[in-house]
Amino acid sequence: MLDFHTHLLPGVDDGSDSVETSLGMLSHWGAGDCVCATPHFYADRDTPERFLRRRAAAWDALSAALPEDAPRIRLGAEVRYFDGMASAEALPQLCLEGTRLLLLEFPFVPWTARMLEEVRRIRRRGIQPVAAHLERYLGFNRPETLRAFAEELLVQCNAEFFLSRRTRRRALRLLQDGFIQFLGSDAHDLSDRAPNLAQALELIGEKLGAQEAKEIDEEARYWLRRCTVGE
Ligand SMILES: [Fe+2]
Repeated sequence: MLDFHTHLLPGVDDGSDSVETSLGMLSHWGAGDCVCATPHFYADRDTPERFLRRRAAAWDALSAALPEDAPRIRLGAEVRYFDGMASAEALPQLCLEGTRLLLLEFPFVPWTARMLEEVRRIRRRGIQPVAAHLERYLGFNRPETLRAFAEELLVQCNAEFFLSRRTRRRALRLLQDGFIQFLGSDAHDLSDRAPNLAQALELIGEKLGAQEAKEIDEEARYWLRRCTVGE
């Protein structure tokens, strides 16, 4: 499986608090899996340089302790939207490593034309934004707003969207409609927000058939390949 959104790296953000917690989290994925480590980046609290240094230090600490059967880990970031971000020099370095995919966290307000234009400017730079946990924004955006953004964005949804009985039906429908390209656990720890993508894929398999569960994973890997730098 490809887990596109996690807070696996120790001590960088509100995710894993130690190498031990990260190793515990890692036991939820298998050797053939790929896990994207996407710590929060907030431009109003941090500079890209400082963030990348902290991320590198956390990665050094974790990689020194990795077991042999660890999944493949790719470094990225969950970048909070800010006005003017399309011109930020460091934006390519905040993409998932080796790709031009940028995991973008939107503010929890109705999305505006100004934001849509910013997203278009990011794309004109050759960077493809992926909306993080899109399900969180469905409640306060009008369908036509979501449609306009969906033309510019790829979409990541959290495993919890499928696992929660309250939202499951909508999650499955959006998946069947081809609205979702990436799934992620958005795992932060080993308790309330533990890695749970395997359970979501199992549920998708139960409700929609094993083929559908396989197809969403294949689709994610397709976009990863397609947005690999140099291709
Ligand atoms: Fe997150």
